[in-house]
Amino acid sequence: MKKRVLSGIQPTGKLHLGNLIGAIENWVKLQEKYECFFFIADLHALTTTYDDPKNLKDDIKSAAIDLLSAGIDPNKCVLFKQSDLMEHAELHLLFSMVTPVPWLERVPTYKSKIVELKGKDLGTYGFLGYPVLQAADILIYKADFVPVGQDQLPHIELTREIARRFNNFYGNIFPEPKDLLTQFPTLPGLDGRKMSKSYNNTIAISDPPDIIKKKVSTMITDPARVKKEDKGHPEVCSVYDFYKVFAKDLTDTVASECKEAKRGCVDCKKQLAQVLIDYMAPIHKKREQLAKDPKAMDKILKDGAAKAKKIAAVSLLEAKKAMGLI
Ligand code: TRP
Ligand code: SF4
Repeated sequence: MKKRVLSGIQPTGKLHLGNLIGAIENWVKLQEKYECFFFIADLHALTTTYDDPKNLKDDIKSAAIDLLSAGIDPNKCVLFKQSDLMEHAELHLLFSMVTPVPWLERVPTYKSKIVELKGKDLGTYGFLGYPVLQAADILIYKADFVPVGQDQLPHIELTREIARRFNNFYGNIFPEPKDLLTQFPTLPGLDGRKMSKSYNNTIAISDPPDIIKKKVSTMITDPARVKKEDKGHPEVCSVYDFYKVFAKDLTDTVASECKEAKRGCVDCKKQLAQVLIDYMAPIHKKREQLAKDPKAMDKILKDGAAKAKKIAAVSLLEAKKAMGLI
């Protein structure tokens, strides 16, 4: 029996290269070895976009296309949209009965997101409950492993705590999942901070070549290089970080030429833009094909939801029975 893996991705804006490198490419590998459930966490996206969800529908579609064009294969894994399964929301409600509010207030992302998205009112019930919904996502499939980045580890820990508390009250229903930490350096954004939709510093998976060129040309480099003759420090330069991820074979040349001032930043960025365009070419090609057939897209998600439901419905029933509802 294959072990079961579950993970979700939020369609908060367009998926970007940080998502591709940090999550999606890892999922593509995992689907070969495990029984995988991957989903678009649209309800989670709503916890921070509730005040302006006009792009959500498009972003969900775009996320589905991105995942499939990057190699997520519906014949190898189950791909679905979270809100297509009311079971997630229902289990979330049941878990909310047993989850102490201070546990949620202590979650590091709770405070850090409020700072990151300052100006947005995140004093909502839904946002506080974000990790409870995530616990429901995970436990409803009784997943063995949850591939996530470092920032999500506290959510997985909380998921285990909720499972433990639930099991203590009502009997052993939910196994504790393990995290599968994705060991990947975070990709910097155009401004040198972590690539993130909330900083508006991303290169989207769907960005066409001309946008890639434009965006790369605005990237922050080593501030010590005012003139081309100034010697550079690639280790503090985001452009160099991109080379390390997308063109390992070029990194030595780039680093030595930069340090000896034999390479200018403008040229360095032009070359990087081309590297990214080449890297993305097969994904973009597949994207175009998929975008032509939205009905096929919808069917993939609907079929995925039906498969997921088979498992989710059983767990929900167990939980409802255990809690005395049926
Ligand atoms: N919180 C995750 C993130 O922002 C997305 C997510 C929602 C998720 N539900 C999940 C990840 C369940 C793993 C398992 O990256
Ligand atoms: Fe960065 Fe390249 Fe400029 Fe060096 S030459 S500072 S690596 S952009």
